[in-house]
Amino acid sequence: MTQDLGIAAFSLRGKIAVVTGGMGQLGRQFTLALASSGARVAVLDVRTDAEFIAARYGDRALAGDLLFCQVDVTDRTSLEAGLERIEQAWGTPDVLVNNAGLDSPPNAPAEENGPFETYPTASLDRVLDVNLKGVVLCCQVFGGAMAAAGRGSIINISSIYGLVSPDQRLYTYRAESGAPFYKPVAYSVSKSGLLNLTRYLATYWAGKGVRVNTLTFGGVFNHQDETFLRNYASRVPLGRMAREDEYNGAVIFLASDASSYMTGANLVLDGGWTAW
Ligand SMILES: NC(=O)c1ccc[n+]([C@@H]2O[C@H](COP(=O)([O-])OP(=O)(O)OC[C@H]3O[C@@H](n4cnc5c(N)ncnc54)[C@H](O)[C@@H]3O)[C@@H](O)[C@H]2O)c1
Repeated sequence: MTQDLGIAAFSLRGKIAVVTGGMGQLGRQFTLALASSGARVAVLDVRTDAEFIAARYGDRALAGDLLFCQVDVTDRTSLEAGLERIEQAWGTPDVLVNNAGLDSPPNAPAEENGPFETYPTASLDRVLDVNLKGVVLCCQVFGGAMAAAGRGSIINISSIYGLVSPDQRLYTYRAESGAPFYKPVAYSVSKSGLLNLTRYLATYWAGKGVRVNTLTFGGVFNHQDETFLRNYASRVPLGRMAREDEYNGAVIFLASDASSYMTGANLVLDGGWTAW
């Protein structure tokens, strides 16, 4: 007798997925992971010209299961045009990964990473626009289409800095080089806002067959400077940053029927950051 191991529940064969920010470091990973599980994937980003697609995806872009759409998540008209293109090519999406996001990287202009008291209002607007309003708009446009179709899974990408405060001690070494660095407030408040957007929509759309969950990540290795990497590692029980492919399994889980009884939840992959 063969035992059913339940692997089939993870299949995305026949599904249509949308990944916002799909040209970025993690968006590219999620796109390729979803496609390798059988989905056709629409890659949405502000820049999707041929040269950039070739640089990010190479020949993989030509296989026919990826569709690149230039979309600004802060602009509802642009999102509606993206949906129309996807529906004409393939049909109504089954999966939405709200991954597009803005952060202030360690090399951002000084005022972006200065003290809370003088954090620029323009930066607050810019980050909240993409990280929070952009996700609401994507849920309205793509989630609305899913609800009308009576099925779907939405995955909102958050961060440990949306669950707990950034540990500013990680960055104090930057003051020694004359440029004090604070992880800014806009990123944290925008990412924590996603937690309750998830709960709001999970209950709002439960009767329509659309599941909504948050996926919370810890930091990903991306050639950060040595002192930062050492400080970060000492703060994580698993002793290192994540590899960029280590969140793919969770995305497939949440996108697929393997998570069919999960909605309104927050799945945390952080190497244990929030465990102590
Ligand atoms: N990298 C990490 O360490 C980390 C940790 C926790 C959470 N996250 C989250 O994961 C997600 C992806 O992060 P990443 O590191 O791959 O970032 P990234 O900067 O490499 O990619 C983000 C992508 O979003 C796109 N984007 C920005 N504004 C947009 C807009 N208005 N419309 C459409 N697309 C837009 C960018 O062009 C970019 O391609 C983000 O939401 C981020 O907050 C990342």
